[in-house]
Amino acid sequence: MTFDLASPFSTFRAAPLIGGLILLAGCSGGGEPETPSTEEVSAVKTEAEAFHATDKFTYANTDDVIITHLHLDLAIDFDAKVLSGDAVIDLKWLNDEATKVILDTNDLTISAVSYEKDGEWVSTGMELGEDDPLLGSKLTIEADDHPTKLKISYQTRPGAQGLGWLSAETTANKTAPFLYSQAQTINARSIAPLQDTPMVRMTYSAHLTTPPNVLAIMSAEQDPNTPKDGDYTFSMPQPIPSYLIAIAAGDIDFAPISGNIGVYAEPGVVEKAAWEFAETPDMMTAAEGTYGPYRWGRYDLIVLPPSFPFGGMENPRLSFMTPTLLAGDKSLTNVVAHELAHSWSGNLVTNATWRDAWLNEGFTSYVENRLMELVYGEDRAVMEQVLGLQDLKRDVAELEPELTSLKMPKDLANPDDAFSQVSYVKGQYFLMFLEQRFGRDHFDAFLKEYFDKFAFQSITTEVFLDHFRKTLWAAHPEAVTDAEIQEWVYGTGLPDTLIEPASPAFDLVDETRSEWLAGDLALSDIPTTDWTTHEWLHFLGGLPDDMTVEQFTELDETFGLSGHQNAEIAYAWYMNAITANYEPAYPALEEFLIRVGRGKFIYRLYQALEDNGKGEWAREVYAKARPGYHPIAQTRIDGILGL
Ligand code: BES
Ligand code: ZN
Repeated sequence: MTFDLASPFSTFRAAPLIGGLILLAGCSGGGEPETPSTEEVSAVKTEAEAFHATDKFTYANTDDVIITHLHLDLAIDFDAKVLSGDAVIDLKWLNDEATKVILDTNDLTISAVSYEKDGEWVSTGMELGEDDPLLGSKLTIEADDHPTKLKISYQTRPGAQGLGWLSAETTANKTAPFLYSQAQTINARSIAPLQDTPMVRMTYSAHLTTPPNVLAIMSAEQDPNTPKDGDYTFSMPQPIPSYLIAIAAGDIDFAPISGNIGVYAEPGVVEKAAWEFAETPDMMTAAEGTYGPYRWGRYDLIVLPPSFPFGGMENPRLSFMTPTLLAGDKSLTNVVAHELAHSWSGNLVTNATWRDAWLNEGFTSYVENRLMELVYGEDRAVMEQVLGLQDLKRDVAELEPELTSLKMPKDLANPDDAFSQVSYVKGQYFLMFLEQRFGRDHFDAFLKEYFDKFAFQSITTEVFLDHFRKTLWAAHPEAVTDAEIQEWVYGTGLPDTLIEPASPAFDLVDETRSEWLAGDLALSDIPTTDWTTHEWLHFLGGLPDDMTVEQFTELDETFGLSGHQNAEIAYAWYMNAITANYEPAYPALEEFLIRVGRGKFIYRLYQALEDNGKGEWAREVYAKARPGYHPIAQTRIDGILGL
């Protein structure tokens, strides 16, 4: 396979072409679950030599050597809040001259490094570099003989960015402590020493030990009915990037949803979760019907304690989910559609660097919305498009212009900065634009083929564009112009060709909101009993800044918005309340901030408090809430509140 980025039939150039491509682990074809052969995994760097993507967020010398398999043998110690044991790494050497293996670590204590020689472990020299606050410490291992197996004995530190340790009191059942990891973007290096870049894919296996009655699960193959004996083994036979390695452990039960889909959660939560997510098999059917086979074996979800800092995380075979999705009415299941969609966009075809994050999140937001349309109908899908666009416009207005391009700038300071609504919603709208121009049938066929062609590979934006140019665009050259594509991918802000969706249901909400604000309609006459969560969110999102306290009070008393059990509605209400300084909402807001650790809500709430002269109060609440938050959230909010 060769890749020619300067296509003969287009004047379009992926500018500035810094990247190029890196294809790691070639494997294509249908069937499930699919295990690529060792040759395929190691075919890897042959193509990578032609074009090279640079990931500035890794220390690893991936030009010299790459990890093909990682085995973890770890004990989970809840008292000490550490994982300790060995990482055994299989290596493939690419450069004859190389003499070292450089790995990423963050907050790891390394006790020994050895390599395998003639069936024995031989100790070797290593050096752990200085701690960089973002990147951690470079681990340099002497490897003159090009060993193919390394063993690193190590332990994590209690404050590791990628590990959330919860005391039993902060869990739903209070029966056992809880641990969950969050490796994306660059926290896998605080869990194990490895090449922490999405360019490199590896298979993995693990052996974990826990106290009795604690169940450990991973983003890997496992038996949902395994006895809780404190001794667990896992295998992930498909090559994945390091950010998809995941662990959860605690008092966890399992409830099946269908034959190969189920949900894990604490005992008091698991039934509710199985009900809320009962439509997951329909989403799976919709996804496979449109985008090709699901290639990962089982698909399970785990509902984590409320400190989980994300809505969801697409850990393969086992999406991690926030309990704030359990609204009791299946109204927030787009997050399930989203994480499931990543089984194609992101986990199967992966962004090679974090500058290409939109290849993961934009594609996934698009696929998510298509699944929502298939499972729940067009009205709901369009409402979600409109809500997304509102958030995108807000982010575009707030962000530095260079962070509003789909391809993130070369000098991206922190990989997490690539995850604004730009990657998600601008990416989604770019694909909606392509769908509209090429026609849904053609575009669906193109995406299905794209997922197949680049399955189990990590690619850059430029590789995607090159493929698009040679396939769909070549077949329909008149459908889009170079300038249009260029503007969407490398331009800043929102392109003129963005299609604004229209939601008649939201138009009605706008009308009634205006009439109420003008004093022409009583709140009780607004037909809210038929409103979905989406209509509520649109109603609250469109409230003006200059509302009176009387109007706030009337809304709160009529609709019980402070302390609302739907976390999205409650959040939208609190954002309004903070801007307007509507103090009666504050006790409920405090309770929310202490209970919920989901970043999407709490970062903006703390920021709004700080911006509206409530910083002092925010710091008092945060002092109570902070111990319950994940280290990722703690770091973010420390920054927001200037601590
Ligand atoms: N992969 C992301 C979560 C993530 C992004 C973790 C960046 C760490 C760094 C996940 O798929 C996601 O996008 N979650 C969203 C939900 C979605 C419906 C937009 C979230 O957590 O809000
Ligand atoms: Zn996502």
